[in-house]
Amino acid sequence: MNKNLSTGSKGKALVTGANGFVGSHLVEALLSKGYQVRCLVRKTSNLRWLAGLKVEYAYADIAERDSLKDVIRELDFIFHVAGLTKAKTKEEYFEVNALGTKNLIEACLNENPNIRRFVYISSQAAVGPGNDKKPLEERTACRPITYYGESKLEGERIVLKHSSSLPVTVIRPPAVYGPRDPDMLGFFKIANKGFRISFGWGESFLSLVYVKDLVEGVIRAAENPKSAGQIYFIADDRCYSWSEAFKIIARALNKKTIPLRIPKSLVFLMAFISENLGKLSGKTLAFNLQKAKEITQRYWLLDVSKAKSELGFSPEYGLKRGAEETVRWYKEEGWL
Ligand SMILES: NC(=O)c1ccc[n+]([C@@H]2O[C@H](COP(=O)([O-])OP(=O)(O)OC[C@H]3O[C@@H](n4cnc5c(N)ncnc54)[C@H](OP(=O)(O)O)[C@@H]3O)[C@@H](O)[C@H]2O)c1
Repeated sequence: MNKNLSTGSKGKALVTGANGFVGSHLVEALLSKGYQVRCLVRKTSNLRWLAGLKVEYAYADIAERDSLKDVIRELDFIFHVAGLTKAKTKEEYFEVNALGTKNLIEACLNENPNIRRFVYISSQAAVGPGNDKKPLEERTACRPITYYGESKLEGERIVLKHSSSLPVTVIRPPAVYGPRDPDMLGFFKIANKGFRISFGWGESFLSLVYVKDLVEGVIRAAENPKSAGQIYFIADDRCYSWSEAFKIIARALNKKTIPLRIPKSLVFLMAFISENLGKLSGKTLAFNLQKAKEITQRYWLLDVSKAKSELGFSPEYGLKRGAEETVRWYKEEGWL
């Protein structure tokens, strides 16, 4: 991609969480479409994925209200991507995902009430898992099962509460994968070792989205006049069983896999140990009891019909193509 394409003709966009996995892909996509981009980052943020991009930096912490005043002025769009996907306590999740979102919305109301669109990146976790193979729709009642999901749902409520005074849109992605993602890397490593794991008895199913499809859907939502006040699931338009997903990833790695079924009780035992090791070392480990609760659910399925019909969203990557690109990138970077 030409990193210097931005002409700013589409307007000026703020991206929070711009240096993260999803945020950095969104910044690139916005630049390539002709937006001017202001990246909200922290003094401590690692800017490696933004290196060389023609963007403006604004330093702030969304959990600190006063830091946001100047950041929010002279903007047409706000893409609120920043969030905590792992934390040690419920309070930590809420401080960033709920309070941080409230701070940003209030700063917008005070400093920039004529914004063209405020897009909030929520999560499938805000809705929670389903009870059967029927994919959930946006109108399904939300029943999050983790602190992360609860905090993202609270962020949604804050954003939607202001939908009469600000044009807001909520996007709920399922598990996102692609280049730069450290979280799904573990599953690629397991497949690379020749295993396809599953938890407990019976098959489990999930929705996925390749990061480039996600950011395309996010921008479509921001640009569509009819999507103000709306919630959209943005995901691959087909669902996968875990074993099928592992097989597709293994094929991209040119590996053969054998099934490895892990009893749920063992998943929770390992999560308990990992969580306590994290506490002892003071680190926030990705695998803990909350994560165990999440990955042992059988149905994480989303219906993307609304995004397809209202936004013209059409995912270009199935897992096969997305996994191939991801494997290529992981290998080039020496992550695999
Ligand atoms: N990845 C997924 O599978 C997935 C699925 C559904 C929804 N989402 C949502 O997508 C968003 C991005 O996720 P990601 O996977 O890209 O995560 P990520 O790579 O960890 O990026 C998170 C970003 O949020 C920033 N951030 C965290 N706390 C902040 C604060 N107090 N002030 C300002 N910035 C802060 C981080 O900045 P620092 O680098 O400075 O920490 C980072 O840029 C999140 O809102 C997440 O809930 C992700």
